[in-house]
Amino acid sequence: MSSPQTAAITAVHGWLPPDILSNADLEKMVDTNDEWIRTRTGISERRILKDPEKATSDMVAKVIEGLCEQRGMKATDIDLVIVATVTPDMFFPSTAQLACHKAGASNAWGFDLSAACSGFLYALRTGGQFISNGTHKKVVVVGSDKMSSIVDYTDRTTCVLFGDGAAGVLLEADPTGETGIQDAILRSDGAGGEYLRMQGGGSLNPASAASIEAKMHYIEQDGRPVFKAAVTSMADVSYEIMERNGLTGDDISWLVPHQANLRIIDATANRMGVTRDKVMINIEKYGNTTAATIPLCLWEWQNRLTPGENLILSAFGGGFTWGSIWLKWAMSPKA
Ligand SMILES: CC(C)(COP(=O)(O)OP(=O)(O)OC[C@H]1O[C@@H](n2cnc3c(N)ncnc32)[C@H](O)[C@@H]1OP(=O)(O)O)[C@@H](O)C(=O)NCCC(=O)NCCS
Repeated sequence: MSSPQTAAITAVHGWLPPDILSNADLEKMVDTNDEWIRTRTGISERRILKDPEKATSDMVAKVIEGLCEQRGMKATDIDLVIVATVTPDMFFPSTAQLACHKAGASNAWGFDLSAACSGFLYALRTGGQFISNGTHKKVVVVGSDKMSSIVDYTDRTTCVLFGDGAAGVLLEADPTGETGIQDAILRSDGAGGEYLRMQGGGSLNPASAASIEAKMHYIEQDGRPVFKAAVTSMADVSYEIMERNGLTGDDISWLVPHQANLRIIDATANRMGVTRDKVMINIEKYGNTTAATIPLCLWEWQNRLTPGENLILSAFGGGFTWGSIWLKWAMSPKA
């Protein structure tokens, strides 16, 4: 018989590098302007991790430390750490291992998960399974990306979009099943791979003078097909998860969308029948931080959330990957 217990979020924490890259700064670097960026994307500024000694795992370690402080637990209490990222410190060891070492989570095992902008949802679903099946007690799921390490700051079509940041959650069991993850729909279609990718450095195109010359170590994106697929798929899957659970727009307290483009967010909210005041949006401050966008929203909004509220988390990203998770919030606002 399957267990009724669910995986509930019992702590949430984010970390953002202090340095800001504004639209005005970008105007000095490429042929763009503040007006174009704001009207086409909704972004005003983004954070950049400038310290050359720091990487994705350092941001994950900060998140783990923050989660421990909030929950009043030790890092050694954590059983598993899953890091969603497309900017691992290196191919191996995994970012999860490096971050656990830095944060002192010496009893945890862990791994990296690559699903681009849907990474946090894939990881949340995966981590949730280890809680709901009762094999693990404390699972940390973090989305962390140092996008500035793979962005070509001479390419105006991509460099205005991305920023650096990390955020994550602690998952623990709710034995009643009344809060926590209620349902998830995750999808992928590798046919979309060619429209958003980083080709260099892997086994197909190992790093070489030629791969660098061809700029394969940077993100390349064909924005229009990605935009079209994102608008339809993210809206469809968000609607589907509501429909199959008998939820209407009025039942949803918050839509927590991936922050890639304000126009994609609006299309999703419209399809769901959710009004703008119930949509978490912070894209103007951070841009697209890839796997970190959704938990960064949860972190910033946590004091406005109350137990039992219905949240729909939705994302679309490279792969293509996309999906939606319905969860019931479990935490009380901080006093
Ligand atoms: C990238 C994106 C913002 C571009 O917006 P768009 O409305 O599709 O714009 P287009 O690509 O059609 O370009 C329109 C024009 O603006 C120009 N342009 C592109 N980037 C520009 C910039 N930063 N500043 C000024 N002009 C720019 C283009 O060159 C093009 O000019 P042209 O008509 O002379 O060729 C949009 O396609 C998008 O958000 N795509 C999805 C991105 C995404 O979600 N990626 C992450 C996965 S979740």
